Formats: sequence, structure tokens, C-alpha cells
Amino acid sequence: MTESGLDQLFKPHLQTLMRRTEQSLAASRFDALVIHAGYPPTQFLDDQDYPFKVNPQFKAWVPIVDNPRCILVFAPGARPKVLFHQPHDYWHKPASLPQDPWTAEVDLIAMDEPSKASAHWANLGRVAHIGPDGFAAATDPGCINPQDLLTRLHYDRAVKTDYELECLRRASELGARGHKAALAAFRRGRSEYEAHMRYLEACAQREEEMPYNNIVAYNENSAVLHYQHLERTSPKSLRSFLIDAGAQYRGYAADITRTYAALPSRFADLVEALDSAQRGLCDEIVAGRDYRDVHLSAHRVLGDVMQRIGLTKLPGQTALELGVTSVFFPHGIGHLLGLQVHDVGGVMGDVQGHERQRPEGHPYLRLTRMLEPGVVVTVEPGIYLIDSLLAAAHADSRRAHIDWGVVEELKPYGGIRIEDNVITTAGAPENMTRDAFARVA
Ligand code: GLY
Ligand code: MN
Ligand code: MN
Repeated sequence: MTESGLDQLFKPHLQTLMRRTEQSLAASRFDALVIHAGYPPTQFLDDQDYPFKVNPQFKAWVPIVDNPRCILVFAPGARPKVLFHQPHDYWHKPASLPQDPWTAEVDLIAMDEPSKASAHWANLGRVAHIGPDGFAAATDPGCINPQDLLTRLHYDRAVKTDYELECLRRASELGARGHKAALAAFRRGRSEYEAHMRYLEACAQREEEMPYNNIVAYNENSAVLHYQHLERTSPKSLRSFLIDAGAQYRGYAADITRTYAALPSRFADLVEALDSAQRGLCDEIVAGRDYRDVHLSAHRVLGDVMQRIGLTKLPGQTALELGVTSVFFPHGIGHLLGLQVHDVGGVMGDVQGHERQRPEGHPYLRLTRMLEPGVVVTVEPGIYLIDSLLAAAHADSRRAHIDWGVVEELKPYGGIRIEDNVITTAGAPENMTRDAFARVA
């Protein structure tokens, strides 16, 4: 899609957001909404700020992700107003007023002093304010981040507009470029740190623009689910590479994981088997399917893979029932994806936020909703050799169902995760990530 094609999708996106918000305001008995972009906290005993992460409810309205203290004002029946912060500041360069086509759909107003902004909502009736701590000090506390309204807005975010879907496709494409560059660094024997740097360079995004911290892990490090270090030197023996890294486009996130083996091995066979299982699980992202069933299906499918590869001695269904699959696959099969890498509203059954329970024994599943067209999820099965989980299994009745020789053989490779970003449609699922990898190949 061309840039102007994407721009044309912005207006209907905004109209959808306005309609949803109007309904949510009415249901929670507010007349208008003010959303604060937020600002970065200052470091303790210092005059330096942390990187700025915009309030996701703010960037749902306008693609302004890098200018703190902006404010959006919405009253049903009127165009949204965007108060764009342009302080008198000779230490920093104030952001320029955006000129992009989306600005035609809002009233964009330069604002030098946020404390004067309240005139813009003084006559709007009962106004809800949404934003991070420390704003709107003079406002009635009942109007600050009111839970009922927030819950409704969060619930609605699961179903993406066409504009959002296109932003997500573009985020996936940026991520695919980064993944390709990082893999090349690994193949050249470069360190985790260098693979990470090549990733950022290929995406043309700074580290602080990433939707989450890149996970770039070689060998045993890939058994750590959220491995956070970047070794500056390469290990003597390079066996495996797990990279979980995204990108953002107009504030929308990609969340992509790939795992590679350096040489042919049982681990390499396992990567291939998991890749094929993952593709099958992506096919389960269809409207009307309960995502909890996708998660349980993943345990069965992965359990079968574990048995075939020789890691376990049980078929998937039995391995699931006895808690054996959870030793190797200890996280959820995925989550909602959008403005946040773990988008809100994953366990809400309705606009009131009634919780849809996770399956018993699966406390880490972040998404329990029914799938419907427009819902975007990740599908990220994994198989890891994690010391603490293995020790627990070795100490109980699961010990008999695991081949400990194969465990020892695979441990030096750490683990595998393969993660794609998938759109639920009225028909076949759209795998944005596989499509993006094919485009950048
Ligand atoms: N990168 C975080 C996750 O996969 O959920
Ligand atoms: Mn994920
Ligand atoms: Mn991920």
C-alpha cells in the first residue's frame, strides 16, 4: 500500500475511534475526554529524564509518539483537538508542528504552556482525564483514569481498524529487515551486541524506539525467556541464536522471534519441527475460536514434537495432562498486539471487563478472549531447557517421562521460540510476519 493509501485510512480509523469513545463516555457518564500524552520521569538525584514512552491511549488517536506533554481533547460531536506542546526552551529543540495528511482530521493547536490548557475543556461538562501519574492535579479524583471508562476503551482496542492493520504490517516489515541483518551478523560470528546493533541499524530505529527491549541470545542464554544482556564478545562455540525483536510504525508494534541453529544437530531438527508446528498453530487464528483452545492445542502439538525428537516419552495430550509440556513450554502461546507489545484487554470477556479465566495450571496466558475479525495476536510457541524447571520436574513424578540424556544434549543450545504476528480475518488468517520476511528476502 502506498503512503497516501495509508493516509486515506486515517479518517475512517478516527471515525471508528470517535464512535467507540462516544459510546464509552455515555456508558460511564462522562461528557468529554482529555488524554494526556505524559512525560518522562526524571532520574533520581539527577537532571536527566528516562526515555519517553507515550500514553498508549494518546497514540491511539494521533501518531505523535515523541513529544511529551501534548494533550488530546474529545467532546462527542466535535473534531478532536490536539494541543501540541511547543515550549519556549532554548536547551532543547521544540518539536515542529506536524504537517502530515492526518492533521487535516483534527484541530491541531500549538501550546506553549500545558498549565493553561484547561480552558479547552472548561465548558465541556463532566470530563474524564486519562494519563500517567502526576497530571491534572486540580481535577476531581473520580475523573482521573476512571476505571469503568478505561476498561471500555481497553476492551475495544482488541479489534483493529484497517489503518491500524496497515501500521502493524509495516512494523512487521521493519522487524523483518532487522531480523535479516541480525542473522547475517550471527552467521559472520559477531557478538550478541553486534547483532543487536545491526538490527537497529536495519530498522533505522533507536533502541528507545523499540516496542520492547530486544532479546538477542546465543547458546544457553536463549533459555532465559527475557534475556536482557548483550555479550560484547562472541562465545568460542556458536551453537544457537534466538532473537526476539520488534519495531514500531506510527506507534504500532511488531513482536517477532526467530531461532537458528549454527550447524546440523538434534537441536536444528527441533527448530525445524517447531517451525512447522508454529505454522499449524497460526492456522488456528480464526474468527470464533477461543484463544485458550489455541494455547492448549499448542501444548498438545508441542508435546508431540517433544516426543518425536526424543525429549519426552509421552504423546502431547498425556504430556499436557501430566504437566510435562509446561516444563519446556512455560509461557502463553501469545497475546494481543497493537499500540503496546502486550496490548491491553487480553483477559476481558466484555466491555465491563469481566475476566475470562485462564485454563487451570496456565497462569501466564495473557489472552483468553474469543477471536474475531480484526483481532491481532502473536503465536509464539517455545521449547526451552530451563534449569529451575528441569530440577523441579526431576524431583517429582514427571522425571520418568523425560529423557534426561536428550536434555543434557540440548541444554547447550538454550531454547527455541518462533513468533509471528497474525491478523484474525473473516476467512484465512493473515500472517503479517511471514509475509514481511518473504518481501524482504
Ligand atoms: N517480546 C515479548 C513477547 O514475546 O511477548
Ligand atoms: Mn510476544
Ligand atoms: Mn516476542
